[in-house]
Amino acid sequence: MKNNKIIVIKIGGSIIDNNIYIKNIIGNVRELFLKNFKIIIVHGGSKQIDREMIRHKIKIKKIDGKRYTDLKTIKILDKCCKQINDRIVNLMKKHKINVTGLHSKYNTLMYANKLQNVGNLGYVGYISRIKKLEFLKLLKDNIVVISPLIPDERKKLYNVNADDVAQAISTFLKVDRLIFISDIDGVKYKNRIIKKLKVSNLKQIFKKDIVSGGMIAKLNACIKAIKKGVRNIHIVNGKYCDIILKIIFNKYKPGTTIQL
Ligand SMILES: Nc1ncnc2c1ncn2[C@@H]1O[C@H](COP(=O)(O)OP(=O)(O)O)[C@@H](O)[C@H]1O
Ligand SMILES: [Mg+2]
Repeated sequence: MKNNKIIVIKIGGSIIDNNIYIKNIIGNVRELFLKNFKIIIVHGGSKQIDREMIRHKIKIKKIDGKRYTDLKTIKILDKCCKQINDRIVNLMKKHKINVTGLHSKYNTLMYANKLQNVGNLGYVGYISRIKKLEFLKLLKDNIVVISPLIPDERKKLYNVNADDVAQAISTFLKVDRLIFISDIDGVKYKNRIIKKLKVSNLKQIFKKDIVSGGMIAKLNACIKAIKKGVRNIHIVNGKYCDIILKIIFNKYKPGTTIQL
């Protein structure tokens, strides 16, 4: 079957911890890969990083889902994100999928820069450049698994929120679909899931404090992606079986779909 659609899948930290969920997600990814979809996985690791910081008695500070990052935190990120990246890559290799993991200074396909105007968050960055042609070449016959610890052009490392990494890749590569796999059924309002969320309504949602924490970073990433032309964006719960296949093949999409 011919298909060259590119899908970016961001997997949140709480889902990565669970063997059953992650294996089901990888099974879905394998199925799509065999159908010739091109897949990029971006993983977070906030839960694992929080645990490690508590173990090292380092205070955790976050502003709207973005973590204050000093050099000690970078070291912890390096360790935790490498473990997560290796775990996903190894699970895929077991499934005989061609896969390349990109983590820390070994990620030579994209660059970060220090994020300005967000208060003093330390080494928190944003994606400033992606080597598009090289990236697309790798994607031709590899699933690419990306960690959110990204070097700048001089190999200094930055902590980029994984939702922002997924957004940046989606917009730089003009992908067909961006999926955020998290630990909630979608964006909630008064205890119900909003099935279709228009960007124009998002401003109100922020104003009314309907969202908090990590959801703020996620929805900001959605706004940027949709404004820059990514047309299919979903926020779904990774605990449900075959969630990725349902998004691609079912008429009624699970979770929240973000619309222009
Ligand atoms: N209105 C909302 N709807 C859904 N989740 C929300 C909302 N407001 C805040 N959240 C929180 O955002 C979290 C998802 O973001 P985050 O913890 O960063 O997950 P991930 O690891 O997937 O990025 C949810 O688990 C939930 O606690
Ligand atoms: Mg998050």
